[in-house]
Amino acid sequence: MRRYAVFGSPVAHSQSPRIHAAFARQTGIALEYVAIEAGHGDFPAKLAASGVDGANVTLPLKEDAFALCRSVSARAQRAGAVNTLIREGEHWRGDNTDGLGLVRDLTERHGLDLRERRVLLLGAGGAARGVAPALLDAGIHSLYIVNRTAARADALADALGDPARVHPRAWDDLPGLGEFDLLINATSATRGGALPALPMALAGPRSVAVDLGYGEAAVAFLAWARAAGCAQALDGLGMLVEQAAESFLLWHGVRPDTDPVYAQLRAQADALVSAD
Ligand code: ATR
Repeated sequence: MRRYAVFGSPVAHSQSPRIHAAFARQTGIALEYVAIEAGHGDFPAKLAASGVDGANVTLPLKEDAFALCRSVSARAQRAGAVNTLIREGEHWRGDNTDGLGLVRDLTERHGLDLRERRVLLLGAGGAARGVAPALLDAGIHSLYIVNRTAARADALADALGDPARVHPRAWDDLPGLGEFDLLINATSATRGGALPALPMALAGPRSVAVDLGYGEAAVAFLAWARAAGCAQALDGLGMLVEQAAESFLLWHGVRPDTDPVYAQLRAQADALVSAD
């Protein structure tokens, strides 16, 4: 049986094994998909020892995965980050399905039109790098990248190579940036502690806020978004299912139907929240 895994840290609560098992049942493809805990130091060795045919990579390993690929897709090259590894003999080919996953979730599941939108991206790590190129490709008007470490926002803006639309800014600049149509939290701040204060003036009654995380990790930013009066506050569950479907397509040549899998995960997530 073909074997796949998701690598990251922490990875025990990853939904990816469930999602890929559901896709496998739906498409009749026999596979095994497990979660393997790995950090910056031990990821290459654990990947080599795992014997997998393909892998997903989550935080904090997306830039590490990029570095170990012999070849990468154009979108992974632009992102400087890889979330999908495809075995090619003894070597790895890297791709990044995060951005397309986010765009599909926003446009197809939630019916948003991204064209000409003014977008704020909080964060400049692997998650932010993964989604930025796809947002530009979706025709947004401008992308403001704000990161705690300003040099990383500058580096991401340089890598994107679209200075007319991409504007790196420091966290201290946030109060002067005005209102955004779409606000994306791609920081890992809420996983390790608190999200730094965000001015309410960043959002208005037509704004949509998205946290790329889900569950506990998304609570603080989405609470801020509701308090700031956003029209919609979305978590990253839809993106998670869509990026998984794109990885599944790369490995197996079939794109599964994501709606029933998303509905199942959403019901489970809502049940957990109401049990709190
Ligand atoms: P990921 O793959 O989740 O993006 P990462 O590459 O480690 O993981 O990036 C984490 C992101 O969250 C970075 O943008 C980081 O900011 P720095 O580049 O300044 O480190 C951001 N981040 C993490 N903790 C944060 C906090 N407490 N406040 C603000 N930003 C934070």
